[in-house]
Amino acid sequence: MFLGLDLGTSGLRGLLIDENGNTFGDAQAAYDVSQPKAGHCEQDPLVWIAAAKQVFGALLLNCPNEMSKLRGIGIAGHMHGAVCLDASGLPVRPCILWNDTCAALEADMLDGIPAFHEISGNIVFPGFTAPKLVWMRKHEPELFAAIDKICLPKDYLAFWLAGVLKTEMSDAAGSSWLNVGARCWSDDLIDATRILREQLPEVLEGCDVTGQVRDDLANELGLPRNIAVVAGAADNAAAACGIGAMADGQGFVSLGTSGVILAGKDSYAPNPSSAVHTFCHAVPNHWYQMGVILSATGSLNWLSDVTGQTPASLSAGLPKKPQGPTTLRFLPYLSGERTPHNDAEIRGAFIGLSSSTDHVDMTQAVMEGVAFALRDSFEALRKTGTKLDRLTVIGGGAKSPFWVQTLANVLNRPIDLPVKGDFGAALGAARLAVLGVTDATIKDVMHPPAIETVFYPENHLEYEDAYLKYQHSYEVIKNIQ
Ligand code: XUL
Repeated sequence: MFLGLDLGTSGLRGLLIDENGNTFGDAQAAYDVSQPKAGHCEQDPLVWIAAAKQVFGALLLNCPNEMSKLRGIGIAGHMHGAVCLDASGLPVRPCILWNDTCAALEADMLDGIPAFHEISGNIVFPGFTAPKLVWMRKHEPELFAAIDKICLPKDYLAFWLAGVLKTEMSDAAGSSWLNVGARCWSDDLIDATRILREQLPEVLEGCDVTGQVRDDLANELGLPRNIAVVAGAADNAAAACGIGAMADGQGFVSLGTSGVILAGKDSYAPNPSSAVHTFCHAVPNHWYQMGVILSATGSLNWLSDVTGQTPASLSAGLPKKPQGPTTLRFLPYLSGERTPHNDAEIRGAFIGLSSSTDHVDMTQAVMEGVAFALRDSFEALRKTGTKLDRLTVIGGGAKSPFWVQTLANVLNRPIDLPVKGDFGAALGAARLAVLGVTDATIKDVMHPPAIETVFYPENHLEYEDAYLKYQHSYEVIKNIQ
C-alpha cells in the first residue's frame, strides 16, 4: 500500500492506493489561510502537522488492514511558500504562501536582474519564494537573522515524518533559486538574494526516497515500521503524474478556481517573456510547462454570487451544446492575470451588454471568456515549440459539457473527459511513492486515465473570430483602467 498526501491551500488530503493504482481509502482535514494584513496570506506549518495527524487517524480507523501494509508515502503540496526554520527545526514565523503579494517590489527588483530569466527560466513572480526572503530581511530583520534552513511547504511535512530535510526539483523550480535546465541550485541566484547556500536543503528527484518514517512517530501514530518517505512533487507536477502528463504531447487543461494548461516536456524550453511557467517535472529528465489563469471556476463563482444563483443552476440554463460564440465578451481578470500578461493590476470586464442580456448570456460569456484566456496560455506554450494535439480536462468545471465543448471549439483540439475517479495531486504523490519504492517504471505507473467522452471541436472559425476580438479587448481595457 502507498499513501499520497496532498498539502492543499485549504486542506490536507490523503489517498491510499495499491501498487496497481487501485484506491482503498481517502481522508481529508481542512484548515484556513490567515490574512493578517491586506495582500498577506499565511499558514502555520504546525497546523499542517495537526491535519496530517487527523488524516492518519481517519485512515487507520477506516482502513486498518491496508494501513498495516503501508510501504511508502509521497507528498504533494502548494508551491512557492517560504517555510523558515530555526536551528531547532521550528518555524520562525508562519509560512508565507504562494498567493501572498507582500513581496511584489522585491520580485520586481529581482526580475530586473537578467540572470533570473536566464537561469531559472521563469519570471520572478511576487508569490515565488526568493523575493519573500528579500522582503523578510527588510521587514523582519530579527526573524530573518534566526533562519537556519529554508524549505517549501510539503518538505516540512516530510521533515516531520522522516526527520530529514530535503526538497525535490519540481518544487525547487518555483523558488527562483534553481537552475531549472541543469536541475541544481544556482549559486548566482542564491547570491543575488543574499541568502546562504547551506540554508537550502539538498535537491532530490521527486521519486527519490528522502528517508523513513521516524520510529517514535510510527509508534505515536500507530503506523508500521520502515515506511519510506518519497520526496514527492509540487501540486501541479503531482497532478500531471496523476493524469499521466509526463512527456511531449501529453497535457491537461484544468478548470479549477484558477485555470491551468499544462504540457509535459522531454526537454527544457523556457519562455519567460510570455509568462509561461517552465518547471522541472517530478521524474528525472522531464520538465513541464504551464500557463496559469487566475480565475476559471472562480469567474463562474463570482457570477453566482452576484446573481444569487448557484453555478449549477446558471449552467442548467444553457443549451446542451454551444451553437456558436455569443457577442457578449467577458474578460476573466477578476484578480489580475499571470499568463500571458503578467499583470497584477488588470481587472475584468463585460463588453457588449444590452437591455436583453440575461443570466444565460452572461454564463455563456463567462465560460467563453475563460476558454479564451486559456487559449492565450495555449498560444504562449505554442510559441515555445510545445505541441498538444489533444488535452485531458480535469477540475470542477469539467462537470459542464457546455464548458468543455466550448473549450474544444476555442482550442480547436479534441478534449478528453476521463471516467469518474481520482486524478488529482494526491494520486500523483501516491504514484511517486510507488515509483520510489518498487521496480515499476514511469510508463507502468504514470498512465493516463480511461476516457468517458471525447469533445471534438465544432464551428472553430466562428470562435477564432471571437478570440481575435477577445485578444484585442485586453489592450483596450488596459488603456482605460
Ligand atoms: C503555481 C501556483 C499554484 C500553487 C497552489 O505556480 O502558484 O498552483 O501551487 O496550488
